[in-house]
Amino acid sequence: MSTMEATAAKIIDQPIVDQLVAHTSVEMEEVNKLLLSRVGSHVQMVPDIANYLISAGGKRLRPMLTVAAAMMFEPKGQQHISYAAAVEFMHTATLLHDDVVDESDKRRGQDAPRKIWGNAASVLVGDFLLGQAFMMMVDAGNLEALGILSRSAAIIAEGEVFQLTNAKDANTKVDDYFEVIKAKTAALFEAATEVGAMAGGANLADRSALKTYGAQLGIAFQLVDDALDYGGVSGTIGKNVGDDLREGKMTLPVLHALQNASTTDAQFIRENLGNQDASEKAVSRVVGILQSCGALQTTLDRAYEHADLAKAALAPLAERNGARILIEIADYCVERAA
Ligand code: IPE
Ligand code: IPE
Ligand code: MG
Ligand code: MG
Repeated sequence: MSTMEATAAKIIDQPIVDQLVAHTSVEMEEVNKLLLSRVGSHVQMVPDIANYLISAGGKRLRPMLTVAAAMMFEPKGQQHISYAAAVEFMHTATLLHDDVVDESDKRRGQDAPRKIWGNAASVLVGDFLLGQAFMMMVDAGNLEALGILSRSAAIIAEGEVFQLTNAKDANTKVDDYFEVIKAKTAALFEAATEVGAMAGGANLADRSALKTYGAQLGIAFQLVDDALDYGGVSGTIGKNVGDDLREGKMTLPVLHALQNASTTDAQFIRENLGNQDASEKAVSRVVGILQSCGALQTTLDRAYEHADLAKAALAPLAERNGARILIEIADYCVERAA
């Protein structure tokens, strides 16, 4: 066996997410270096907060997708590294902002930055990271890609605002929910894979396939995030189970239960939606209701549908470098526990 074959064989034995990590490891090391080099500021609180959140880890899924999308083609120079780092900074910025908006206390298994430094500092450092992300995109020197990523930044914010306007509103439609998750989450996945393909020099048809792949994967990813908010384990998801209930977020598990659970159970959910002080016991009872009325299963079923659409988008490109890993990562996005 040649060294390359031996490496490929070693990669193929691992869980799929580890295969993605191995496939992108050289590039991701560059991405991580770039991230760390861009958090610097003479205002000490800026790197303090940014490093606190970045060094807590996170899956780095979006930048890996950017890099892997580029690697399916022929990336030249550092463009795909810059886009991957920009995408992760945009993501980090949205997390800083999102925890303020959602009043969440835990992120990546530790206190959310807002618990340590406060809401104002979290918002402002999020803005700093967003600014740094745009500078990296400008450095990469492609106006069209800059347009795609800027547009996604605007759409994410729009999605978060739309979600805010639906909070605690039991009349929220399932279509509204999908509009929210397409905007707040799928838009960044979509941009991440599209600019990755562009940095790899993909033709228009292939770029469009990667764009669709990212968008569908992002929808599946958020559906699962919303299921994990009820069906997951706090220590594993690194966030508090029941946050969405206490925030009054109208996610698919809740929308499904309000339609399908018994009148008494639906009433119990309505009473606790948006109640910041809902007890652990109340959250457990809601989790039980969501399980027994099939709300969590339905949410996962919908996630599988979108994961299948993601896979289908890449099917014509299945023979390209690393395409198999991207195709299989779609199921990981649904089956993940964290
Ligand atoms: C969290 O994203 C925000 C959502 C879109 C659900 P991730 O689950 O990718 O967060 P990290 O980066 O791994 O912490
Ligand atoms: C994720 O929203 C989307 C963004 C961060 C923009 P959530 O509010 O569902 O994400 P978590 O559950 O806090 O990670
Ligand atoms: Mg949140
Ligand atoms: Mg969530």
